[in-house]
Parts: sequence; C-alpha cells; structure tokens
Amino acid sequence: MNIILLGPPGAGKGTQAQRLEQARGMVQLSTGDMLRHAVAAGTPIGLKAKAVMDAGELVSDAIVSALIGERLDGSAGNGAIFDGFPRTQHQAEALDLLLADRGRKLDYVIELQVDEEALVDRITGRFSCAKCGVGYHDKFKLPRVEGTCDACGAHEFKRRPDDNETTVRTRMAEYRAKTAPILPYYEERGLVRRIDGMASVEEVARQIDAVLDGEGAQQPGEGRSLQL
Ligand code: AP5
Repeated sequence: MNIILLGPPGAGKGTQAQRLEQARGMVQLSTGDMLRHAVAAGTPIGLKAKAVMDAGELVSDAIVSALIGERLDGSAGNGAIFDGFPRTQHQAEALDLLLADRGRKLDYVIELQVDEEALVDRITGRFSCAKCGVGYHDKFKLPRVEGTCDACGAHEFKRRPDDNETTVRTRMAEYRAKTAPILPYYEERGLVRRIDGMASVEEVARQIDAVLDGEGAQQPGEGRSLQL
C-alpha cells in the first residue's frame, strides 16, 4: 500500500508516518527529513536547500523529485508513506511516473484537516531526539522520563530552525498557494480521504487505520472544510 499524508505544516504528518512505520512496517519517505539530512551533511543539495528552507519556501521540484526517486526502491515491502511530498502539481505528476515505472500505484491520499492557530502552537512546541529523531512536544507529547528519549534513552534533544512563528506563517502560505490546489488531481481519481487532524494523536491514528483497513472511509466532500 502506498499512501500520501497531506496537510499543512504541523498537521501531524510526521507523527502519524512514524507510527505507521512501527505498526505496519511501511516506510516513511519524508522530503523534509531528507533535505535536513542533506543540509546537516553539507551536500550540494543541502547547500542549495538551506536558505530556502530557513525562509519557509519550497525547494525546487527537480531536487525533491530526485530525492524521492532515489529512496523509493527501498520502500517496496509493505509500501511507502509519502510525508511532505508531493507539494506541487509538478511533484504530483512526477510521483505518478516514479510509481508507474516501478509497477506501483497510490492507494490513498489522506488529508489531515486542521486550523492555523493550533498549528502555530504545535510547531513552536515541537522538539525531537537528537539521536533517533523521535518527535515530542512541550505540551502534547513529553518524554515519559523528563530529559530521556522514550525510544532510545538519549538525553540530547533538538529543535528545527524553521520552527519559529514567522517561518511557519510562510510555510502555511506556501501550502495554501501550491499544495492544497493538488487535492482535486487526486479527488478526480477517488483517492482522497479526509481525517480530523484536530483530534488527539491516538484518535487521528484510529481514523487513519480505519481508512487503511477499509472501514468507514470518509469520501471527498464529507469532511469539514480546511480552515486556513
Ligand atoms: P517538512 O519537514 O515536510 O515540514 P512541514 O510540511 O512544514 O511539516 P512539519 O514537519 O512541520 O509538520 P508535520 O505535519 O509532520 O507535523 P508533526 O507530526 O511534526 O518540510 C520542511 C521544509 O522542507 C519545507 O518548508 C520546504 O522548504 C522543504 N520541503 C520539504 N518537502 C518539500 C517538497 N516536497 N517540495 C519542496 N520543498 C520541500 O506534528 C507537529 C507537532 O504537533 C509535533 O510536536 C507533534 O507531537 C504534535 N502533534 C501531532 N499531531 C498532533 C495531534 N493530533 N494533537 C496534538 N499534537 C499533535
């Protein structure tokens, strides 16, 4: 099964993708994570991407499509979760070609519906384990033992440089202008399922599981409209 998790910054795409990896053995393909690794490693792609990401704008379609293409073959087993890709019409069309070349197809596009003010809170409170990358939040998901990662026991945590309010607002504007308009491309194919992303992490997970297990999948147009 290959699915796209679609939603604005902070909607919970990464949180749910990490859970699906553990629960279903699917592979999370996050272009944001790939780009951050490239920045940290100082690769030519990372050097180009850093200023764009720090400003909250979108990196070029050619760069992110190439990154996904390189990683797609490693996700063949139980399928891929596309997290943060595609983000433009051009990327959506590139993904179709990449999947078709490998005899694979998209099963669902899951849209996490959320509202903007809650997202600013979510993003500015977010941090992650510096060693294994598991995500936490100052209010919504603290480590069970203060200062210790639940998953790997490390004591170092980090915050993203683009997780400040100004950049978050630009990222949201980019989502509205370039990413939300790709939904009709998938709606025409009957692939979109809408989930209430304002529910708890556990409830969102339950709703996604219901879609993937074919129970109570919500059809396009039945969800509340995106409040951005
Ligand atoms: P990327 O890394 O993809 O960031 P994003 O889309 O802005 O999404 P986030 O990672 O911020 O949010 P998320 O939805 O994963 O939320 P999360 O689960 O962490 O992209 C970063 C940058 O890279 C872009 O700005 C761009 O420059 C570049 N880029 C990446 N892909 C690109 C592409 N395809 N094309 C061009 N450029 C690209 O949750 C947020 C917080 O909320 C967490 O702390 C979590 O614990 C908490 N939380 C999650 N769910 C809930 C819930 N239900 N209730 C309460 N709290 C919750």
